Formats: sequence, structure tokens, C-alpha cells
Amino acid sequence: MTPDAQPSRTALLSAAARAAHLLVDDHPAIFTDPLAHRLLGERAEELLSYHQVYGSHPALSGARTSVVTRSRYTENRLAEMAVDQYVILGAGLDSFAYREARPDDLRVFEVDKPATQRWKKKLLAEAGITTPETVEFVAVDFEKDPALTSHLVQAGFDPNRPALVSWLGVTMYLTEEAISQTLHAISGLAPGTELIVEYLLPAELRDEAGQAYAELVMAAAAAHGEPWQTFLSAEQMAALLRDHLLEPREHVRQKDIPVEWKRGDALRPTELSILTRARVRESSPATDPTAGADSPTNTRRKPPAPQP
Ligand SMILES: C[S@@+](CC[C@H](N)C(=O)[O-])C[C@H]1O[C@@H](n2cnc3c(N)ncnc32)[C@H](O)[C@@H]1O
Repeated sequence: MTPDAQPSRTALLSAAARAAHLLVDDHPAIFTDPLAHRLLGERAEELLSYHQVYGSHPALSGARTSVVTRSRYTENRLAEMAVDQYVILGAGLDSFAYREARPDDLRVFEVDKPATQRWKKKLLAEAGITTPETVEFVAVDFEKDPALTSHLVQAGFDPNRPALVSWLGVTMYLTEEAISQTLHAISGLAPGTELIVEYLLPAELRDEAGQAYAELVMAAAAAHGEPWQTFLSAEQMAALLRDHLLEPREHVRQKDIPVEWKRGDALRPTELSILTRARVRESSPATDPTAGADSPTNTRRKPPAPQP
């Protein structure tokens, strides 16, 4: 089988790390994903036992730190923004859309490669998790298909209304060309739309723990057909965003996530990945000037409570 015909192994490992966080790390949890465990299906015992037995190994504690901090930041921002459209690029086994606490009027557009989406639908069905009508699966390969917006629109996305777009744990697997094409598409969405993108720092900008994690994980990812390809500094990401008329608002490191970092468990913030939050500018030339008729301020919903 070609890598494209296989579901993403890194998506499975990310879900395992979210599930394991609730089993092996201190409470209160940094991020609670109540469905991750069930989504692992028949692999749950095997994958979770690694974390239970070797949970302080840097490859495992680093993975847990990474997935829970990025999801916590992103879902808190989603709650603050109170938009009614959420696009998850490279959604993998993200469970936001299937949780009981999700807002009823929030439409979720999950974008990923077709094989990973087929596998996710099977895992959801096997776990008895219902897919709400507010969720759309949008099959796009960022490397092969630049028409992200038209696929979203075909699935019911309204490009004239603001959205949150998250892109967590994905850009490192892409070429710079695919990243640029996707940023171009996002820059054409409605003003006020925000993007939260995660990316990996080049080796010279990592701290010791970040470099150690990279050395442990990078070779395994490549061996399983998902090599890390692109590394960017915060300055490079900011420049790339500005090239695409997106306005960088903040760069967030793991240590910036407002949680208690003096911990009894093995989670420690490292300097390896950054989350950058950017906004589609009011004056973006790619934006439809007639969009004002559908004023987003008229359609704001009551936000869900952010995770503490
Ligand atoms: C590490 S997983 C992250 C999944 C999810 N965002 C999370 O935080 O759990 C990377 C995801 O990116 C997706 N991905 C990688 N390359 C892609 C591409 N060229 N086009 C679309 N999706 C891609 C994979 O299928 C996988 O679901």
C-alpha cells in the first residue's frame, strides 16, 4: 500500500497521547478529550500501555505535552471567538465535533486525506460514536489539491462568515509549497477569520529537550511514511503569513499555556513547536467585498465555557 492509501499513524498516536494524558498525568488535566480512548478501538490497550509503563520517557511525555497544550489553546480560542464555523485542517482523530459539550449551532469541517477520513468514520462507528449533522468531512490532500475553499464551500462552508481554522500537528509533514497554497486559500476567507497553526522550529532554535524529542520521533515518523519536511522560525512563519495577507497576532510556546508547570508528572514545556494565531485582514483583496450583508456580528452564538 502507498502511504496515501493508509490512514495516518501520527493521527492515531496523537489520539493515544490525548487519551493517555487522562490516565497517567496529574489532575486537573491540561486538556480533556473524553472520546480519544474509545476512538483507539482495538489498539487502545497496546497504545495506552506504552504510556502507562514508560510514561516518563521523553518521546511519550513530549507527545502528551504537545497534543494537550495545542488542543487546549485552540479550543479555548474557539470558545472565546464564538464563531459558528470551525475548520480543522489535518483533523486526524480530533474528537471536538463528537463531544456532548459541543455547541449545537457550530458547524465543523474536518479536512484530511481520504484514507484517514474513511478510517476515522470506521473507528467512530465501531466505538458507537454518532456523527452529528453539523460535521462535514472534506477530503483534501494539501500537497495535491489547491482548491481547499471550493471543497469547503461544496460541503456547506460559508466563506463570507468568519471561522476559526486550526492546523495542529500537520505543517511539519508538508512541503513549503503546500503550506503556502493553503495559507493562500485561508487568506481569502472572511475578515475576522482566525488561523491557529502549529509548526516545528529548526534544530538550532530548539532547546535541549525539544531537540531530544525531535531526535527520538523524527526517524520513526519517516520510517512510517510521514516524514517531517518543514521547519520554520516564528519570524519565518510571520513573514509567510504576511506574504499571504494574514496578520500574525501571537506566537505561543508550550511554556506560555497558562497551566501549572511545577508538576508531579512528566509533562514539561519544551522549545520545539510554536502555535501562531493569525487573522484574515479586513482589507484582504481576496475577500468578497459584498460579504458585509451577512454580518458576522448578527450570527454570533453563546460561547461554550473554555477549559480552565
Ligand atoms: C499528527 S496528525 C494530527 C491530527 C490532529 N490535528 C491532532 O491534533 O490530533 C497529522 C494529520 O495531518 C494529516 N495530513 C498530513 N499530510 C496531509 C496532507 N498532505 N493533506 C491532508 N492532510 C494531511 C494526517 O492525515 C493526519 O491526520
